[in-house]
Amino acid sequence: MRLTGAVVTLMALGFVVAPAQEKSTGSVSFKDDLFPVISKHCLPCHAEDNFNPSELSLDSYELMMQGGKNGALVVPGKAKESLLTKKLGETPPFGDRMPLNKKQVISEGKAKYLSEAELKIITEWINQGAKNN
Ligand code: HEC
Repeated sequence: MRLTGAVVTLMALGFVVAPAQEKSTGSVSFKDDLFPVISKHCLPCHAEDNFNPSELSLDSYELMMQGGKNGALVVPGKAKESLLTKKLGETPPFGDRMPLNKKQVISEGKAKYLSEAELKIITEWINQGAKNN
């Protein structure tokens, strides 16, 4: 009985600890984690059958890796050097900070950029090798 108790306690601890670890070091999936963020914030403009500015379509992994008129968006393993993260930061190398949302800035007095959690998904996905996973 004592042993069973210890095993149960360890299992319970495992359940408590595991999700916390997953948040900081877990692997980020293109399909399950990254694409939902892109779909919500970027596809209203950057879709092949939409406005599609700068010839940049983000509808699929292949199109994202292809980039837009200014070249590759992603340097696998190097989020800091990737145009994707630079365009999401406060000081993009050219043009506007993404997602472009001038209307909201005017009507609500504040910009709707990505949340810290969403930015982290993108940064970690690139740093983990930008895989089609
Ligand atoms: C309301 C429309 C709109 C939305 C939404 C939007 N963009 Fe853009 N995007 C633009 C326009 C317009 C340009 C061209 C001007 C510029 O570079 O600022 C552009 C340019 C870019 C470029 C530069 C491509 C190149 O090769 O020059 C990147 C990278 C980019 N967007 C990424 C994103 C990402 C990532 C999102 C989602 C988080 C996003 N955009 C959401 C309108 C939008």
